[in-house]
Amino acid sequence: MSSSSSSAPVFHVPAEFQAQCLAWQRAGQRVGMVPTMGALHEGHLQLVRLCRQYCDRVVVSIFVNPTQFAPGEDFDRYPRDLDADLDLLRPYAVDGVLAPAPSAMYPAGYSSAVQPGKIAQVLEGQFRPGHFQGVTTVVAKLLGLARADVAIFGQKDYQQLAVIRRMVTDLNMPTEIVMAPTHREPDGLAMSSRNRYLTPEERERALVIARALFRCRDRVAAGERDARELAVDLMQDLIDGGMDSIDYAVIADGQTLESLNVIGDDAVALVAGHVGRTRLIDNLLLTK
Ligand code: PAF
Repeated sequence: MSSSSSSAPVFHVPAEFQAQCLAWQRAGQRVGMVPTMGALHEGHLQLVRLCRQYCDRVVVSIFVNPTQFAPGEDFDRYPRDLDADLDLLRPYAVDGVLAPAPSAMYPAGYSSAVQPGKIAQVLEGQFRPGHFQGVTTVVAKLLGLARADVAIFGQKDYQQLAVIRRMVTDLNMPTEIVMAPTHREPDGLAMSSRNRYLTPEERERALVIARALFRCRDRVAAGERDARELAVDLMQDLIDGGMDSIDYAVIADGQTLESLNVIGDDAVALVAGHVGRTRLIDNLLLTK
């Protein structure tokens, strides 16, 4: 462990972090975790603030997890700046930061993985094979290390949240999973660590995603129930707005993520695609 007078204690050794969390719990304190890959922004800080409402001790993990990146994705160029992240966390008096090296999380001989089911095969699962196996495996490890009573995940990665909820239920894990609403820039762009890859011109074009999603939600609020027509129009709005590629633009059931024909009482619009070289995802709940 290392610490400075004002920043959170940083644990590089998972076993030391786990021992600290266990000590808190033996003292009757609830531990809440915010798993991140660093490159923190206001959206993450909102998760930290929310976590504080649920527990006595708040811990944050900062770990760019290699197993959730496919070959050719941005693992190598993913932004890493632990000192900047710790500076951002300082006002929140976080109780511990887990910042392990990949070799500490996946030491020699490591050979186990979580196998997520059907919900991980659609949407992101089709475009990022193996991604959710990497995510669920590392999240299972992180929640186990923290022995977390609660863990907070952002709505922006809606499918990730749904896949993690499924895992926690299926594997009888004792952690309560809480969804924090997507944090948006004033012009609507969903906050993401990857937004920093965008040039000013691309950032302007990326606004089409939020605009198209909000238009979709407004139409549902006005009474539109034809989910297939909404999905076609969502796709057209993204094309007209200048996205460079669209992986999917769907209206799906909020639990199963299966595409809907008719808007029911739990519908979500989900989008993924590229602006320039940057892959962006976003979503909006249509009925809640
Ligand atoms: O959403 C993220 O930042 C990551 O997928 C997570 C949950 C921290 C697992 O590496």
